[in-house]
Amino acid sequence: MRNALLSLLLGLSVVTALDNGLAVTPQMGWNTWNHFGCSIDEDLILSAANAMIQNDLPKYGYNYVNMDDCWQGTRNASGAPQPDPTKFPNGIKAVADQIHAMGLKFGLYSDAGTMTCGGHFGSLGFEEIDAQTYAEWGVDYLKYDNCYNQGLSGTPKISYDRYNNMSVALNNTGRPILYSMCNWGEDGPWNFATTIANSWRISGDVYDNYNRYDVRCPCDSMIDCKLAGFHCAMTRIIDFAAPVGQKAGPGHWNDLDMLEVGNGGMSYDEYVTHFSMWALLKSPLILGNDVTNMTNETLSIITNDAIIAVSQDAAGSPATRQWKRAVSQGGDLQLWSGSLVNYQFIIALLNTSPTNQTVDVDFEDVFIDQGAAYQSGTFTLYDLWQKDGQGNWGKEVGTYTAKIPSVHIGSHQVKIWKATLPSGSSKRNVADL
Ligand SMILES: *[C@@H]1O[C@H](CO)[C@@H](O)[C@H](O)[C@H]1NC(C)=O
Ligand SMILES: *[C@@H]1O[C@H](CO)[C@@H](O)[C@H](O)[C@H]1NC(C)=O
Ligand SMILES: *[C@@H]1O[C@H](CO)[C@@H](O)[C@H](O)[C@H]1NC(C)=O
Ligand SMILES: *[C@@H]1O[C@H](CO)[C@@H](O)[C@H](O)[C@H]1NC(C)=O
Ligand SMILES: *[C@@H]1O[C@H](CO)[C@@H](O)[C@H](O)[C@H]1NC(C)=O
Ligand SMILES: *[C@@H]1O[C@H](CO)[C@@H](O)[C@H](O)[C@H]1NC(C)=O
Repeated sequence: MRNALLSLLLGLSVVTALDNGLAVTPQMGWNTWNHFGCSIDEDLILSAANAMIQNDLPKYGYNYVNMDDCWQGTRNASGAPQPDPTKFPNGIKAVADQIHAMGLKFGLYSDAGTMTCGGHFGSLGFEEIDAQTYAEWGVDYLKYDNCYNQGLSGTPKISYDRYNNMSVALNNTGRPILYSMCNWGEDGPWNFATTIANSWRISGDVYDNYNRYDVRCPCDSMIDCKLAGFHCAMTRIIDFAAPVGQKAGPGHWNDLDMLEVGNGGMSYDEYVTHFSMWALLKSPLILGNDVTNMTNETLSIITNDAIIAVSQDAAGSPATRQWKRAVSQGGDLQLWSGSLVNYQFIIALLNTSPTNQTVDVDFEDVFIDQGAAYQSGTFTLYDLWQKDGQGNWGKEVGTYTAKIPSVHIGSHQVKIWKATLPSGSSKRNVADL
């Protein structure tokens, strides 16, 4: 049943997604940038890959090891990219080979401009030779940035042409390479990138902070934003993502940027919100912390397999924000809901305000797209951030009809429930309710 549904989804996705067979569910892995910036070399990458294995992260789905900016040296006389020989004395292929030998996949970074954001050579005008070289090295994933783009943005068509050139070049190599576009939401990639990339960033860079306003991330919405910027606080990115969920699906995802969980700028509750919402919105889950030195708390967040199952659900349907209500002391309450396979649903309540709140969660709002029978229906709920008697995430917390009354939610907390039909009821009955 699950496989049949998956094939159906794959079949449908051929029409609308990049046809390289990758990122059927949102990609998962680790990237150097958020924690290490430009301080990277062969040893760092290989110890991170080892630490991923030691911590069993591949078992949870984290399988890409991605090198961000600052691996580059110079181009050689034929124009081929070469790594910095002091950081990568054995070349990039040697690193990729070792990562592959561990059963992991290897990702690299470049930029659709004359230089990368860190000032190294970019790939604009070098798409073919760069893609060919990446394929020879054994690269499985390309993050493709937007600095020094020569002003080649401003309309969707101009941005599309620039990013499509690398998409075509990657396809021409014959090697399936996941294409992760990073144009910061400029010109609305959710409209034009669905057939050329596996994912596209929707905003300026994430900032390891819950809600601090920073003028360098100046837009309140990304729909017509003229300066994506950076230092975008985590809950601002959730606001940016809310309207564009409708454009994502298997093979083509909105990228809310790499995770900050474990980097120290947020509390436990705030990181739980960060990880949960990235999963519900079907963003890639790319860890950005030092995986060689994680606290147990960090490890427990990133290995919540009930939340990861929501991210990787075969329906590939991002949750929708059903309402956002301002709280008088500042911040807001938000209700999100979405569909999973097999008549299962996900419900999230967020409290970004500085005070604890008590609120009814009405099924009228949760099941706005499913209709009256669901809105007055009965569902069994599992709290995905509580463990059951066997120590598994997703404790059953009761059966509710029409609403979850008087939910207490602390400041900066999130509640995530999976809702299923009560045991004994048949799917058919609910479909016909
Ligand atoms: C290249 O594109 C074609 C047509 O969309 C597709 O069938 C093929 O699988 C792609 N190959 C790679 C390596 O991405
Ligand atoms: C540049 O490097 C590529 C391999 O990446 C090699 O095939 C080519 O011969 C090199 N060109 C020169 C002039 O060394
Ligand atoms: C895309 O590549 C073609 C040739 O391969 C080139 O003429 C065109 O200028 C490129 N477009 C952009 C926006 O880089
Ligand atoms: C490991 O993390 C702790 C904080 O959790 C920090 O104090 C320590 O310096 C880190 N060690 C290394 C080697 O980075
Ligand atoms: C983390 O958990 C392991 C095993 O579960 C335990 O041995 C270790 O003491 C814990 N470390 C901390 C800092 O709590
Ligand atoms: C707010 O809720 C949290 C738990 O969610 C609780 O620990 C805390 O005591 C509450 N604070 C107040 C002022 O009620």
